[in-house]
Amino acid sequence: MNFLAFFSRKSLLIWIGVCTCLFCIISCSSENEEELFPAPMVLEDISYLTNIEPILQNNCYGCHSMANSVNGGEHVLEGYTELKKFVDQEKLLGVIRYEDGFSQMPPFGMLSATQIETIEVWIEEGALDN
Ligand code: HEC
Repeated sequence: MNFLAFFSRKSLLIWIGVCTCLFCIISCSSENEEELFPAPMVLEDISYLTNIEPILQNNCYGCHSMANSVNGGEHVLEGYTELKKFVDQEKLLGVIRYEDGFSQMPPFGMLSATQIETIEVWIEEGALDN
């Protein structure tokens, strides 16, 4: 009987120890929450050369380059000056977002959400030749 009482007191102490440790671990890890769950990527300072041109190169130039443009050369998107015309006509975002009343570009599957957002931010930042 005595022995059992001693045993249960001891195990109670062990449990308290374990709980204290767990509490420490949990409160420590919540301090590091920002590291464990980084905030979603924020797109900013988008550059035409670094960010925009590669997207168009890979997804649009097949039909819209200087050398290879649909509609007898009406729809060239290669180079800043040519692309900017479509930005100013407010067509670029319409076509890549597949909006009503616009052609859907690229025709065989939308750009990824990140690619579209990159182009949106570049335009919001003034569609600079940077
Ligand atoms: C497989 C060929 C093809 C690809 C790839 C393609 N396009 Fe087009 N695009 C066309 C054709 C054909 C037209 C003209 C007919 C039309 O407007 O639907 C066109 C027209 C356009 C126009 C003019 C629309 C208007 O209303 O004047 C824009 C802007 C455009 N494309 C942007 C893009 C962008 C941006 C990409 C890449 C993200 C892209 N296209 C990829 C074939 C393509």
